[in-house]
Amino acid sequence: MNDTHTFTPRHILVTGGAGFIGSAFVRLVLARYPDLRVTVLDKLTYAGNLANLAPVADSQRYHFVQGDIARREDVLPTLRDCDALVNFAAETHVDRSILDAGAFVTTDVYGSLVLLEAVKEMGTPRALFVSTDEVYGDVEEGASVESDPFAPRSPYAASKAGGELLARAYHITHGLPTLVTRGSNTFGPYHYPEKLIPLMITNALDDQPLPVYGDGRQRRDWLYVDDHAAGIDLVLRRGALGEAYNLGGGNERENIDVVRQILTLTGKSEGLIRYVQDRPGHDRRYALDCTKAHALGWRPARPFEEALAGTVRWYQQREDWWRPLKSGAYAAYYQQQYESRFAKS
Ligand code: NAD
Ligand code: TYD
Repeated sequence: MNDTHTFTPRHILVTGGAGFIGSAFVRLVLARYPDLRVTVLDKLTYAGNLANLAPVADSQRYHFVQGDIARREDVLPTLRDCDALVNFAAETHVDRSILDAGAFVTTDVYGSLVLLEAVKEMGTPRALFVSTDEVYGDVEEGASVESDPFAPRSPYAASKAGGELLARAYHITHGLPTLVTRGSNTFGPYHYPEKLIPLMITNALDDQPLPVYGDGRQRRDWLYVDDHAAGIDLVLRRGALGEAYNLGGGNERENIDVVRQILTLTGKSEGLIRYVQDRPGHDRRYALDCTKAHALGWRPARPFEEALAGTVRWYQQREDWWRPLKSGAYAAYYQQQYESRFAKS
């Protein structure tokens, strides 16, 4: 039964649920709520992986559908029986958006529009769009609050801004029950090894060089994946419709410090560090003021150092998960992204 303060979903459609954070959300909510059903709709791009959902694959309350959020004919039938939508589906890597932004606009902007139209048509009671701190752009000092203007600086961040602005516009114009979360840099198990932390861990384990962009002194606020998933769950249930909520880990670190910690945790030498050509338009810093989410009752639970050590252990123990990912298409991507960077280092 829903009271005025808490929405209790019965059946959630989780789009992008085979990715890193989406799969953590699915694992979390199925474990937390014994009556909840979850359907995952995922295109299974290079970043989508059914192995991320293996821990729930036998659950009678979980169902997987392969499909594209940018295709109405994929979205409508899966949304029909659901009373909530949580959208994680996106192209998510800044470096890929610099090489080719097309898929970012198709999925992150147009895909969001298709989802909103489907929510409108179905009368879905609640729809949460997972967004990012990157929509605020580079924050030299202080911390972004939810009402700050957007200033995205990468094609990825601009596409995410477009998608969540459509969710806001559909709330205002059509009265749709939308919510937005803006999470900070997330890390933990099942993280595709193109992003900083899993790339550095897996390279270190293989004694491969660790490519640090520019001076390595850019700052990110790190959030453990289960804490991010718990924040999204809380906002879905208790958030005010039409509102956005910052979800930051409160662990601001320079990239180079994170890389050094990874080398210590893996027992490898700092001689593996290579300072390479910087990312074009590289944001120096993101920082979030999370007063609004804290007022709902959310706090990240895992201290950064403990969570990073646990993440390193996970990658040490789960070579069966990441080794297959680092061959094939990833190897081609890695060469394209890093070969000339290393050559110029
Ligand atoms: P990810 O790249 O690991 O996973 C994305 C998932 O979306 C994959 O399973 C992929 O197959 C799926 N997908 C892509 N295009 C699709 C489409 N057109 N239709 C259906 N499925 C599609 O991403 P992630 O790191 O888990 O991020 C999830 C969400 O959280 C994204 O919206 C991202 O912008 C946001 N976010 C991520 C971080 C972070 O640090 N990883 C931080 C803040 C916000
Ligand atoms: P990333 O994990 O790509 O997340 P985002 O760009 O969305 O914050 O990168 C985190 C930081 O690490 C960012 O400042 C770029 C830097 N970085 C490197 O220095 N080397 C790398 O190989 C990668 C992937 C990232």
